[in-house]
Amino acid sequence: MDKNFLNDFPILRGKMNGQPLAYLDNGATTQKPESVVRSICGYYGGCNANPHRGVYELSVRATQVYESARKKIANLLNADTREIIFTKNATESLNLVAYSYGLTNLHAGDEILITIAEHHSNLVPWQMVARATGATLNYIYLAADGNLSAQDIATKLTARTKILAVTQISNVLGLINDVKKLAAQAHEVGAIIVVDGAQSVPHIPVDVRDIDADFLAFSGHKMLSPMGIGVLYGKRELLEEMPPFLRGGDMIEYVEEQTTTFAELPQKFEAGTQNVGGAAGLSAAVDYLQSVGFDTVARIERDLTNFAIAELKRLPYVELYGCDAPNKVGIVTFNIRDVHPHDVATILDAQGVAIRAGHHCAQPLMKFLGLNATCRASFYFYNTRRDVERLIEAVQSVRSVMHIA
Ligand SMILES: Cc1ncc(COP(=O)(O)O)c(C=O)c1O
Repeated sequence: MDKNFLNDFPILRGKMNGQPLAYLDNGATTQKPESVVRSICGYYGGCNANPHRGVYELSVRATQVYESARKKIANLLNADTREIIFTKNATESLNLVAYSYGLTNLHAGDEILITIAEHHSNLVPWQMVARATGATLNYIYLAADGNLSAQDIATKLTARTKILAVTQISNVLGLINDVKKLAAQAHEVGAIIVVDGAQSVPHIPVDVRDIDADFLAFSGHKMLSPMGIGVLYGKRELLEEMPPFLRGGDMIEYVEEQTTTFAELPQKFEAGTQNVGGAAGLSAAVDYLQSVGFDTVARIERDLTNFAIAELKRLPYVELYGCDAPNKVGIVTFNIRDVHPHDVATILDAQGVAIRAGHHCAQPLMKFLGLNATCRASFYFYNTRRDVERLIEAVQSVRSVMHIA
């Protein structure tokens, strides 16, 4: 019997539009357990100071909070602490790689390979790198089951490819890409692999050494911690060679009037005062997630996903996307015939069911699928079968609310 997680998440015990809340937009952001909120308050209430800078006790404590969070993330990903850079979010992490590695290492004639299922955060920065360097941006499209086309990988990943950038789990279809295999294929042709872990790190164990990822990005807020803290993992030898992304305080060694030498890793990539309270929250979030256990997270999400798919499949006016592939986790994307997804989400909201509707920051994928928008229900371990039942009941009401026969 699983613990009643709702006891730890006051917001989930509350009401929305007069109804109990069924929060099913975890792909966008997750709710925060009390232990995370306490850790942030504890930091600001007990040891707030600018880390790394002061020699006084409070600053030493702030540094300890910040650096112990880094250690926790390094352990979570099986990385070295020097390879963990704190950023604002996954988007900033991916931009760091694009600006610092991409602009430095790519040239006209080189190719960047991404997938059509990328979130804009792992797509728009590569458009910028391609335009600035004269490199070409190519796409791996999807096979009929929603997975990456093996044929596209075989033909488009070539000696000209310098960067393969791919999401580990699609935020629209919920499909898991085999990034370990893709990393091996990329390395075989001399390319590096950038893994977007925004939807994977919160849900499955991720071991950057086992994957052999060159870079991996994720956001804290999608895994129980506050907004404004994210992570970039990078292989040490790559980070050492890269120029800083942002410049200013804390990332320097010596500054002369005209020149500067830079701090060692990871400070070289952490310019300015960092989000120490966010790091405290992220650290508590990792503790909480590990106390739940990734096995439990996977089991609950699999059960909810299968249940939701089976129930939605019984409704003849519901169209599901990417729901027949086995390598799927936590995300169910669908449309209701003749009803715009925004109307669906609004009708569900009136019944206390919060889902996402729109293009999910993946417009090229929507175009590839021939869609303008979809509805997306995304689960986390604190969701229950009752939440899914409420989703289904609300979906069943949509067509009559819209006066469609
Ligand atoms: C797959 C994926 N990558 C990147 C991002 C960007 O995350 P953030 O907005 O926290 O930077 C998201 C957010 O939804 C995502 O789902």
